[in-house]
Amino acid sequence: MKRTSMCGALRAEHAGTPVTLHGWVHRRRDLGGLVFLDLRDRDGVVQVLVEPSEAAAFAVADTVRNEWIVEVHGVVRARPDDQRGDGPTGAVEVVATHLEVLAHADTPPIPVAGEEAARTSEELRMTYRYLDLRRPDAMAPLRLRHRAIKAIWDFLDDEGFLQVETPLLTLSTPEGARDYVVPSRTHPGAFYALPQSPQLFKQLLMAGGADRYFQIARCFRDEDLRADRQPDFTQLDLEMSFVDVDDVLDLNERLMAHVVHATTGREVARPFPRLAYADALARFGSDKPDLRFGLELTPLDDVFEGTGFRGFAAALDAGGHVAGLRVPADLATNLSRKDLDALEAHAKRHGAKAMAWLRRDGDAFKGPIAKFLEHETAALVDGTDADGDLWLLVADVGMRAFEALGAVRLALRDRFALVPADAGLAFAWITDFPLLEIDPETGETTYMHHPFTRPRTEDLANLEDDPASVHADAYDLVLNGFEVGGGSLRIHDLATQERMFRALGFSEAEARARFGFFLDALAYGAPPHGGIAWGLDRLVMILAGADSLRDVIAFPKNVRGGDPLTGAPAPIDDAQLDELHLRLAATDPPPDGADA
Ligand code: AMO
Repeated sequence: MKRTSMCGALRAEHAGTPVTLHGWVHRRRDLGGLVFLDLRDRDGVVQVLVEPSEAAAFAVADTVRNEWIVEVHGVVRARPDDQRGDGPTGAVEVVATHLEVLAHADTPPIPVAGEEAARTSEELRMTYRYLDLRRPDAMAPLRLRHRAIKAIWDFLDDEGFLQVETPLLTLSTPEGARDYVVPSRTHPGAFYALPQSPQLFKQLLMAGGADRYFQIARCFRDEDLRADRQPDFTQLDLEMSFVDVDDVLDLNERLMAHVVHATTGREVARPFPRLAYADALARFGSDKPDLRFGLELTPLDDVFEGTGFRGFAAALDAGGHVAGLRVPADLATNLSRKDLDALEAHAKRHGAKAMAWLRRDGDAFKGPIAKFLEHETAALVDGTDADGDLWLLVADVGMRAFEALGAVRLALRDRFALVPADAGLAFAWITDFPLLEIDPETGETTYMHHPFTRPRTEDLANLEDDPASVHADAYDLVLNGFEVGGGSLRIHDLATQERMFRALGFSEAEARARFGFFLDALAYGAPPHGGIAWGLDRLVMILAGADSLRDVIAFPKNVRGGDPLTGAPAPIDDAQLDELHLRLAATDPPPDGADA
């Protein structure tokens, strides 16, 4: 290569070295007789000095503008102490002997450098993502992502894992979201589905004797987008044969410690704490609790048993619960009536019908419903440390009261910055999941993870008679309040898999029609196996300290699932529709972007 050094790599020790550099003109300053170019590449910025004595270079320097791409030949020179620049290359400059323009650039539509660049709207930055990526802060998460994936490859290779790619044009995998489908030209009226995960293929690989598999796998899910969800995202997917739960968790903890160390230099304490699903809900109101701060919930069914207060009594009669969140006085004094209304609205957005509050005042409580609860609150006084403490109360069916207060707990975390700055990474395993989810209102049964999750052996006998009591050999990995992974041991025998499909309400014919190929694989002998998938984007987002998955994906989708850069999704022309044997329904609204 012609280039001898990256701009950002030059240091005092390089003084006197001839170099050839390639880069973007970050800034150009004309100081009368001298031209200074700040030259930028992926690794940083260095100052280039063009003197009139180099007549040809000086003439070119006169014409270049910001964001033009140039080649510089020159010699590194130490800068006098009183003329040192900022940043890691500040001790040197390059005195140019040759300057050549490699590409011109129009004035960029968004600022590429400086404070202003980071403040540009996200939609514009996504539209011109290739300009956005020129900012070191935008490129840094992609570097971290690269290091994470390299660490994963190195570690799993050492552990005897085999990397295998699985198809993207395939059949639907049931992970609980809608599929993205691809029409087939050669099979009129038939569609591929893009994988929601490689779940079935990795299990087929175990049936094929692959023993230990992994893949950095692209997954596609058509679901409502949030800051921690993308329609097109990446998993570290892995599967192991002849293992029990502890084998999978131990391997993952060691892998995670390796990845965290390789990307951030930080040490991770092992083993990770384990928390039963029911306890996570009862204590934190979430199956992905943020364990970096306290403010735990309290079950208050005992306190309100037999209450005459109608809202609470109705929930308890329906088998639901009353849950409380005690906000200590030092925080509670900062919560106005308006704040409490906002917190109630937040609880309602998370499923609660209402949220009540009681403020301790001497030996009694004050609040809009205090007078209805004089009798019951006597018991609460004992559990309340101080004058001014505030109880937030929700009563609802199922575990909804806890879930709503769990959301309020996080709102208080954000409002009062309850996570200490040095809290670090709070990993935990959530275990003891129910196998099935039964809707408290409709009674409908669905799987909690996916239909291939193994019921715990000791609960299996109850699958037909008391499905709600059956636990799964499943585990989620949580980090700082995010679910960063989920997996399980799998059903590996045909009879249990057929029972599972029946419990989910599939007829035998339906099960065969959708999953016949998979049932066959079990019939021909599959080893006991289990695994996990990490949400790689989520993990990188947390390790990079980013707020959104969009920051750690090179070309992300916006909140509407579109790509502002390419304009996808976009209409296709009639010829393409014909070829695919498709006709658009006349009543469909014009597709996004069709009218733009
Ligand atoms: P699951 O559906 O829990 O399990 O997915 C595994 C992990 O993937 C991440 N994730 C997402 N990340 C970004 N955008 C999304 N839309 C999105 N959806 C999920 C989460 C999640 O924990 N096949 C099983 C794994 C297994 O059983 O081995 C599966 O896909 O971090």
